[in-house]
Amino acid sequence: MTKKEIGAVACLYPIPAVVVGTKVRGKTDYALFGNCGIISAAPATVYISSDKKNFTNSSIKKAKVFSINVPSAGIAAATDFCGLFSGKKTDKSSVFTAFFGATGAPMAEECPVNIECKLKKIFNFDDTEIFVAEIVNSFVSERCLTNGQPDIEKIAPLIYDVANKYRTIGKWSVDAEKIGRDFQKQAEKRAEEAMRTAKTEKKAAKLLKKNKKQEAKREEKAAQAAEAEKEAAKKLKKTEKKAAKKVKKAEKKAAKKLKKVKKENNIAHETVREL
Ligand SMILES: Cc1cc2nc3c(=O)[nH]c(=O)nc-3n(C[C@H](O)[C@H](O)[C@H](O)COP(=O)(O)O)c2cc1C
Repeated sequence: MTKKEIGAVACLYPIPAVVVGTKVRGKTDYALFGNCGIISAAPATVYISSDKKNFTNSSIKKAKVFSINVPSAGIAAATDFCGLFSGKKTDKSSVFTAFFGATGAPMAEECPVNIECKLKKIFNFDDTEIFVAEIVNSFVSERCLTNGQPDIEKIAPLIYDVANKYRTIGKWSVDAEKIGRDFQKQAEKRAEEAMRTAKTEKKAAKLLKKNKKQEAKREEKAAQAAEAEKEAAKKLKKTEKKAAKKVKKAEKKAAKKLKKVKKENNIAHETVREL
């Protein structure tokens, strides 16, 4: 795998872009935040990380309450506007229609999800203040519910990505706490399969070794038989040569004997004739 170093980038994207609503002395403000998140599900606790220069900070400190609103992709422009201009100089109160719950923090009607928060703690971190808050109540637009539950596809939250772009979620969805279990089951299956394969491979290797040994033995026997055949042929040739020599010698001897007998016969004939 090849990797390219890109430096110290907080690559925890995508993150939801949320609108934080505050109201102090009758002044409503909405600001945009990417650096936010859940600290705990129960008690429901969240945080936003806000630059000390933001108007939002002084408002939260005074009112001790604020709202976190999840905008949908359809209201990206108004949302982005709230991230570009400060409530110190720009009145952003009419960007959204405010509605109020128990805390009195303004919530944006146009955002499908609204969370009312009560300030719990503030942490100082360099140029930032981290506001930790308890969730008092949450609201979801009825059109974004399916079977009484918030439907993320209908909410179509505006998400912010590493390339400084807003996106929204696609059609893709899977069941949390199920696919992980399926993955574990598949991993177990794969491990079993691997074990089975390893066993079969071991068996096959053993068989191959045995076959090779047998083959080597057969080859050795064949080589021995060929050698024996060669030796036998050599011996036969030698015996044949010897036999041929013997026959030749016997023939020569017989011819010599015949010649002698013929000679003696001639002498005998002549003697008879002379007599
Ligand atoms: C996409 C996006 C994300 C932002 N996220 C943050 C953030 O997490 N924290 C922060 O302090 N400011 C963030 N800002 C900048 C503030 O929204 C901006 O400074 C705004 O003017 C603050 O408004 P206020 O002064 O009325 O509070 C973000 C801006 C944009 C466009």
